[in-house]
Amino acid sequence: MTVHFIGAGPGAPDLLTLRGRDLIAACPVCLYAGSLVPEAILAHCPEGAEIVNTAAMALDDIIEAIRLAHGAGKDIARLHSGDLSVWSAMGEQMRRLRALGIPVSVTPGVPSFAAAAATLGAELTLPGLAQSVVLTRTQGRASSMPPGETLVNFAATGATLAIHLSIQNINGVVAELSPAYGPDCPVAVVYRASWPDERIIRATLGDIAGRLDAGITRTALILVGPALAGEGFDESCLYAADYDRRYRPQSAESPWASWSHNDD
Ligand SMILES: C[S@@+](CC[C@H](N)C(=O)[O-])C[C@H]1O[C@@H](n2cnc3c(N)ncnc32)[C@H](O)[C@@H]1O
Repeated sequence: MTVHFIGAGPGAPDLLTLRGRDLIAACPVCLYAGSLVPEAILAHCPEGAEIVNTAAMALDDIIEAIRLAHGAGKDIARLHSGDLSVWSAMGEQMRRLRALGIPVSVTPGVPSFAAAAATLGAELTLPGLAQSVVLTRTQGRASSMPPGETLVNFAATGATLAIHLSIQNINGVVAELSPAYGPDCPVAVVYRASWPDERIIRATLGDIAGRLDAGITRTALILVGPALAGEGFDESCLYAADYDRRYRPQSAESPWASWSHNDD
């Protein structure tokens, strides 16, 4: 049988892929990370499914629950919030499951940084302002940071930063980023993007710390960088009327003139 790791999305139950929904519906066992996965998604479980909230369980106990279900010939849906490629703890579970010879599959989900950008109506890569997005975090009690992965280093690139798991450390974030980005650099904090109680706080590095209130805890993303201003950027060449390109050759001499859609 198979353990299907499924990205459950940022919060809104309809921000789940169709593949994820169908896998949940096909699995008689569902293990979900209850601290962030919305309970409404569990409605897709089949009637009589065994549903386990793993929020308070240790890794050993989670693997044992999976091993027992696998031994009983049951497929398992394993739900984590957002997408599985970042801060999902999928890696450590997969390593154990591979060692046990238990097959796995992975279905991506909508990551929280994308949901937060959607809430803001923002493109995080704007021509001339930022062409990279850094998904990062600051050090927490349970996770230390590799030495080179500092906010100071990332700020030196000028990229848009999507800082996770760090809202409680907003003063540290501001202190590390201000020398490179300056106090006027735009910042947006998105709390519980896509949930009914979602909130947006737009500010600058200089005043963001004072703009947050006690209600903004835990499930919030800090987005920082010039692109957050949403202005002062160039238009991309791609859609410029005179830009010679594969889908719109500008002349008979264009290298794209003889290209056909069937060539790719
Ligand atoms: C353990 S990580 C999970 C990340 C998740 N795998 C993803 O793809 O976004 C939890 C952190 O992600 C961010 N986060 C998760 N869901 C969020 C949401 N709906 N709105 C804002 N931030 C969110 C917060 O920074 C939170 O501290």
